[in-house]
Parts: sequence; structure tokens; C-alpha cells
Amino acid sequence: MYILGINAYHADASAAIVCDGRLVAAAEEERFNRVKHCAGFPSRAVRYCLDEAGIKPQELTHIAIARDTRARLDKKILYALKIPQMALRRMGPQGKFLTIKAEVAKALDTDPRRMAAEVTRVEHHKAHLASSFFVSGFGEAALLSVDGLGDFASTMWGVGKDNAMTIAGAIAFPHSLGFFYTAITQYLGFWKYGDEYKVMGLASYGQPEFKDEFARIVRLEGQQRKPRFNLGLDYFIHHKVGSQISWDEGAPVVGKLYSNYLEKRLGAARDAGSAVEERHQNIASSLQARLEDSVLSLLNQLYRLYGVKKLCMAGGVAFNCVANGLIFDKTPFEEVYIPPAAGDAGLAVGAAFYVNHQILGRARSFTMDHAFWGPQYTNERIGQALNRKIIAGRLSGCGLRITELSDEEIARETAMRIADGKVIGWFQGRMEFGPRALGNRSIVADPRRAEMKDILNSRIKHREPFRPFAPSILEERVGDYFDHSYPSPFMLMTYRVKPGKRSEIPAPTHVDGTGRLQTVNREQNPSYWRLVSEFERLTGVPVVLNTSFNENEPVVRAPEEAIECFLRTRMDVLTIGNYLVEKV
Ligand SMILES: [Fe+2]
Repeated sequence: MYILGINAYHADASAAIVCDGRLVAAAEEERFNRVKHCAGFPSRAVRYCLDEAGIKPQELTHIAIARDTRARLDKKILYALKIPQMALRRMGPQGKFLTIKAEVAKALDTDPRRMAAEVTRVEHHKAHLASSFFVSGFGEAALLSVDGLGDFASTMWGVGKDNAMTIAGAIAFPHSLGFFYTAITQYLGFWKYGDEYKVMGLASYGQPEFKDEFARIVRLEGQQRKPRFNLGLDYFIHHKVGSQISWDEGAPVVGKLYSNYLEKRLGAARDAGSAVEERHQNIASSLQARLEDSVLSLLNQLYRLYGVKKLCMAGGVAFNCVANGLIFDKTPFEEVYIPPAAGDAGLAVGAAFYVNHQILGRARSFTMDHAFWGPQYTNERIGQALNRKIIAGRLSGCGLRITELSDEEIARETAMRIADGKVIGWFQGRMEFGPRALGNRSIVADPRRAEMKDILNSRIKHREPFRPFAPSILEERVGDYFDHSYPSPFMLMTYRVKPGKRSEIPAPTHVDGTGRLQTVNREQNPSYWRLVSEFERLTGVPVVLNTSFNENEPVVRAPEEAIECFLRTRMDVLTIGNYLVEKV
């Protein structure tokens, strides 16, 4: 039984393959075509998935596509009458879903008539929920998907038990916590797809001074019986002009969401590129506080419905790790699973597992306890890539030393260089699925050096100074450094760093004393665990600073991309497979 899951014609196009109930491979198209958040058809990711599974196109039994154009037809028709241009915009991509098998066949260079695979459409939020619950390892859990917009809904909830989910409700367009966050992100002058992260970082610098106004922008009051919120629509325009998300086989572009009334109430919007002032910090803080209140309110209402202590979340808002970090303090939930690709890339995994369990009724046998589902490269292949660069003259004559080492040596030698203040490109094993680098395609550095944040920004990342870097900590030592010890393997939780430890790891400690941590598990990622352990042996600190291996581009996938990024930027060391490449 081979199920190919696909997220296509939507942000973060991706593919995943599930073989006999187990995930075998998953990857975003952006890693192959190098277009961030690419929203076309994931041809190369599809090819990779079949290669990794070692199967021919004819062997696929199912294709699961994460979109059901039939969902919420009544609401769509209503809005089509009100906003004809929105209906027209939506028709383009919807037409493409009719030919999905032909697209898969084209990507795999085969005749669609030779493919017996049955095509199933899975509604956006059902795929989000499936991407979390069916791989969570939880036998029973409350389920929440919180998002911008997918199949005309922004939010969905229900309960999962064994191999089935019961969907209890959804919140439809135009009410959306994702759009709320994006609207204020735009207002604050950040217009690129995915810029919400910047505002989440900025929020920690401000005070929620505009709390009362934001309580009118998202309304929560008086709706205690089931998960619900309402946007104050005066502050927005998307309900009048439609959701304006467009792409040209590239990254999605989201049209303006906020209204003139919002500017009237909060003051003029910030121009992109102008100075970030205290007022902007306070607006970001008020936004974040309202988002937290809203998500926690949904969760508490969800708990009241089911009384189950385990929670599975997904959807773009589930990337708000600051809100996630409050779940244990502010709701009765005791265990939380959020998959590494909680956003739309994860829809490919969710759609495939939805078919496997919800439709075919097969029993569960798989837990996604790590994020390493992408391509990997042998030492031989890495050596060839290095050789090719040498032959091309890119590695010779510019003061480089290449050493081949054993697994133990590579961890020890790299840890020594981190402790010496060097900036390391760390490339090992299979690429991560999801936006966070989790120790296989990472840039690592010394967390004890407060100046490391500025060094990384000036040399490689060029990020806004208010954005924090993340700590990777040995899972067994989390409780020593943070106020919670519940594992955060996918860097989706922000906890408070214990006051006594903040001066020990200043570089990845945010201005408000928190850290968006990744817990490193010995079994799940042995090579990265060895690296952090070696660093602890040398320094007494079981933490390294971790940021993604890239420079204003999708995270590197292949050795060539890593080598190029290393040469282009001012990284000191590249540890790639068993090779240590140093600028000397
Ligand atoms: Fe989504």
C-alpha cells in the first residue's frame, strides 16, 4: 500500500509517501527548486518521494491531495455573489486539481493511463489535523487546526481516537486568527510571506499597551460553549475584496488585509524599511497577547468539550511557539503534539495518513518522533561534491583545509571549534521536513557568547536585530535550564530560561528571558546529540545555538548548496558528513 500525499497550488508545496502505514519520505518543493514557500506543483518532491520509497509510479495505490474544492460550497457561492473577483481568482488553481493525476504522471515521466492509483481529495483542515493526530503516538486526543485560510475555513476542531477523527466544528472565512496576525504583520511593515515570525520576535520588546483595542479586533467574549472567535471586520478588508493570495509558480503574495479604520485607530501603518519605534513594539506585543488569549481560549473551550488531557495541533498559527509555550500553564492539557511541518507543507503527510486511517480504516503503527524525512547524501557523494568544487577552483587557493574524520572525531573536533567561538555549518544525515533546522542542516555556534547573535547577523543571516536565535539543548538537561521540561523536539515551544541560567546562555536567550528551544534526543538524532554532548563535556553547557543552514534562501538540501553557502558567507567551518572543511 503506497500512498503519495501532495500539497499543491498552495503555499509550501510538498510531497510525502506513506508505505504500509509508515512515513518513508517527505519534503518541500522549495528545497529542490530554491524558491522559498514555493506554491506550484511539487514535481521534484514527488520524484524524490518515489525514489526514496524505491517504487515505480505504477505501484502507487493512492494519491491524496490536500484540498477539497467541494468543502463549504454554500459559503463559497455566497461570497462569489458578493465578491465575484475572489471567485475568479480561486477558479485558476481549482481547475488544476482536476488534473492532479496527470500532473503526478508528468512529474514521474509516465503515462497517467498506466497509473492505477486512486485520487482522494482531503479537506485542508482535516489534512492538518491528520498530520498531527495520526502520527502523534497518542491513542486519544483533542484536535485543533488554526490557520489563515484553507478550503474556505480558518479553524477546525474535533477529537481523535485510535484510527479515526471526529470533526466537531469549523470557523469559516472571513474569521481567521491567521489573517488577524498577518494583517497586523503587514500593518507593521512586514509584507513577505512568513514574516509573522519577525513580529513574534518583536513582540517581546514591547508592552501590550493596545490591549483594549485588540480585544475589539478579535472578539472572544460570551462564547463559552464551543471554540469560537470573531474578527471585528471594520479593521479588515478581506471580507470585502476577498482573500488575495496569489503566486506565479513562486512564493505566495498576500494582498493587503487591514482597513483604513485600523490605521485610524492605531495610527499610520509603518512603511517597510523605516525605523521600528516603541509604538510598533507595543502594537506587536498587543497582537501577540491577543493571539495568545485567542488560542488559549479556543484550547480551554476544546478541553471543556472533551476532557482529554492530550492535545494535537496544526495549522500555521501552531507555529506560534510563544503561544504554544503557555499551554501547560494556561490550559489543563498535559501532553501536546505539534508536527514539525505544522503549516501547509505538512498537509502532504496529513492527506496521506487521512486516507490510510480515516478512509481505509487501517490500524495505526507509526509515530513521527523526528523530522528527518528529506534527502541524505553518502560521504562518497559529499567527497565528490567537494572534489568538484576543488576542480572548479572554488576550494583551492583560498586557504581551506579539508580533513576526513570518524563520527566521534567529527563531533569532538566540531565542538572544540564551537567553544572557540567559530561559526559552523553542520550538514548531516537526512534533511529536515518543516521550516526549522533541527541539527541536520543547521548553523551552530557558542550560546555562551552574547555577541554571537550580532556575529551571525553580520556575517550570514542579516536578520532584523530583534529576532532571537534558538537554543538546542540535550533533552535530559532541559529541566536544568528551562521552567518546563516537556520535550520540544521540533522547536515549537518557547519556555522561560531559568533566571540563574540566562547569563550562561545569553546568545539564544531572548530579551524577555525566554528561549525557543529544541530538545535533542539521543535516539532520534544521534549525531547532533553527540555534538551537543561533546560541547557540554568541554564547557559544562549542554546547549548550542542553532539556526537554519541558509542565507536568505530555502534551507540547503544538497552538499553543493551547503558548500556554496559556506563559501559565500563568513562561516568559519563546514562540517559535512565526515568532512571538516575549515577556512584557515
Ligand atoms: Fe493551512
